[in-house]
Amino acid sequence: MSQSDYIVIEAQEDGVHVIGLTRGVDTKFHHSEKLDAGEVMIAQFTEHTSAMKIRGKAKIYTSYGIIESESKK
Ligand code: TRP
Repeated sequence: MSQSDYIVIEAQEDGVHVIGLTRGVDTKFHHSEKLDAGEVMIAQFTEHTSAMKIRGKAKIYTSYGIIESESKK
């Protein structure tokens, strides 16, 4: 079930944004969370959230492995 999928986002700089996008016909931003360096967010995909966008430098721990996003150059 998609709802059991947790991911962990560890911010590597100030001002990392975790943006939740809606599930369904419309794909829209519905929530934006700002993390500062060292802050961690543990999040799930849910009935309301089908995708997440991470903006800024972070480590993202998922069942697929660890992904590192980069800050804007
Ligand atoms: N109310 C949202 C939901 O249940 C909260 C949420 C879950 C969320 N996962 C998220 C918000 C990921 C931002 C990013 O879907």
